Amino acid sequence: MRLMSKAAVLIGGAVMLSLGAAGAQEEAEGDNWEDKPYIIEDGKVDYGVYNGFRRYHNTCHTCHGPDAMGSTFAPALVESLKDMSYADFTETVVNGRQSSGAGGSTSVMPSFGENPDVMLYIDHIYAYLKARADGEVARGRPERLDPENDPVFQEYQESQ
Ligand code: HEC
Repeated sequence: MRLMSKAAVLIGGAVMLSLGAAGAQEEAEGDNWEDKPYIIEDGKVDYGVYNGFRRYHNTCHTCHGPDAMGSTFAPALVESLKDMSYADFTETVVNGRQSSGAGGSTSVMPSFGENPDVMLYIDHIYAYLKARADGEVARGRPERLDPENDPVFQEYQESQ
């Protein structure tokens, strides 16, 4: 089990659900979860990536575009996640961000720190976006691993 994320500290035990998923992946990969937060076999993705796809398209796609491709007013997260750390990612999503552009325009990333639909699944959203940024997941709805062969799904279920 890795350390609690900043998001988890901010909103307490709620994020433990998604951290459970991270734990399974860490064991399965034997690697640093933040660098490779997904399991993909024969093009099929683990439950975290799959759920991240769904959550992303519930909340984030309206600004960041379908499949994280970006829009005229919000960056393409498929590019951002190429060199954004997990800590910077969660910090941005929890607290939001704002910057002013030329001609007095303001660009606003809302804060999701109090939105359980995002906070509970922030590791899944991260896993999906990281897999997109690494070129491991194509556009569109990914196909899921068989639950029998998906340690992330099994651990997630046990945590419910
Ligand atoms: C209302 C529109 C909107 C929504 C919804 C939204 N974002 Fe953003 N997001 C933005 C804008 C605009 C920026 C750029 C902010 C800036 O210029 O500093 C941004 C920036 C970011 C960044 C930093 C990207 C970079 O290259 O530095 C991340 C990460 C991010 N958003 C993740 C998310 C996630 C995950 C969700 C869904 C939970 C989400 N956003 C939902 C508008 C939005």
